Amino acid sequence: HSLKELNTFGIDVRAKNYVEAKSLTDLIQLCKANTADQLFFLGGGSNMLLTKDIENTVVKIDLKGIEITKEDEDHVWIEVQAGENWHEFVLWSVQNNYGGLENLSLIPGNVGTTPIQNIGAYGVELKDVMTSCNTLEIKSQKEQIFTNEECKFGYRESVFKNEFKNQYIITAVTFKLSKRNHQLKTSYGAIQEELDQEGIKQPTIQDISKAVIKIRNTKLPNPKEIGNSGSFFKNPIVSKTQFQTIQTSYPNIPFYQVDENHFKVPAGWLIEKAGFKGVRYGDAGVHEKQALVLVNYGKATGIEIVRLAETIQKNIFELFQINIEAEVNIF
Ligand code: EPU
Repeated sequence: HSLKELNTFGIDVRAKNYVEAKSLTDLIQLCKANTADQLFFLGGGSNMLLTKDIENTVVKIDLKGIEITKEDEDHVWIEVQAGENWHEFVLWSVQNNYGGLENLSLIPGNVGTTPIQNIGAYGVELKDVMTSCNTLEIKSQKEQIFTNEECKFGYRESVFKNEFKNQYIITAVTFKLSKRNHQLKTSYGAIQEELDQEGIKQPTIQDISKAVIKIRNTKLPNPKEIGNSGSFFKNPIVSKTQFQTIQTSYPNIPFYQVDENHFKVPAGWLIEKAGFKGVRYGDAGVHEKQALVLVNYGKATGIEIVRLAETIQKNIFELFQINIEAEVNIF
C-alpha cells in the first residue's frame, strides 16, 4: 500500500500492511493482536518525514465525531474524535461562534495528533484550549484520560513525545471554548496589520480566522501542491549571553524573550541568513517564502530531505553555534 497520499510531504514509501481503524473497538482489537512495536499509527500525516518502507502494520486512525459534552452560559466543552480534520473542526467552531481556535486556522493534520506536539501559531497553543484527551494504552488496551496538566505541555512538547512515546493512542480531544466575551489575540505576527489593512476595528473571531488563513496562505506552501510538513525545525532557545553575542553581529535579529535569561530565535531567519532560503537540490528544497519549511517538489526521497536538513543544521552551527532541532518526526 503506497503511503504517498497519506503523508503531506508526499514521500512515496510503501506499507507492508495497511488498515483503517474506524472505532475504538477496531483499535482495541489491533492492540490486542499486536505489540506496540509492530504497529505504526498514522493521523493526518502532516508532521512526519518517512525515509523508508514501513514493515509494521500502518494503522490510519479514522475515528470521527464532534460532540458538545457540557455547556454553561459562557463556555462550551466539545469532544472531538481523533480522525477529524483539524482545520475543518476549527472552521466549524468559528462558524458556530465558539472562540479560542481562530488563531490556529489552517494548520494541517488531524485532531488526534495536535496534543502530541502542542500545535501552536500566532500566539495560541493547543494547551490554551484543551481540557483533556482520551487515550488508549496500547499494551493494556485500557482507556485513560490525560488532563491538560498531565500532558506536560511545552513549546512543541508533551508527554506523548517524551516519557510516553509510542505507548498511548490519542482517541479524542476535549476543548473548552468561549460562547461570548471571546479573548482575542491579535498582537502576534501580522494579524493586526492584516486587520488594519481590511479596516477592521472591532474584529470578530471570524475576522481573525480569515486573517490567519490569508497570512498562512501567503507564506506557507499548500501541501496539496508542494509536499511539506510545515516548520521542519523548532525555533531554538538560546541563553541571553549567546543571544547578545549574535545580536552584536546581527543587530536586526528577530527574537521572542522567553524569560529573563532565554531568547527564542526564529530558525527561519537563521536559515535565511545562512543562505538556504529557496535553495533546491533535485526535488528537495527550502521554501522560497518561509525558510523554516522544507519542501518536496515531487519526487524527493525522505533521505534527500534528511540530507538537506543535516546540511542546514551543520551550517547554522558553524555560523551561529546554535543547534537547531527537527520538529518533524523522522522515521
Ligand atoms: N523569518 C525570516 N526568514 C524566513 C522565515 C522567517 O527572516 O525565511 C523571520 C520573520 O521575518 C519573522 C520571524 O522569522 O521575523 C518569525 O517568522 P514567522 O512569523 O513566519 O514564524 P516562525 O517562527 O517561522 C512559528 C511556528 C509556525 C507558526 C508561526 C506563526 C515554529 C517551529 N513554527 O514559525 O508553526 O505558524 O510561528 O505563529 O514554532 C508549524 O509548526 O508547522 C508552523 C508553521
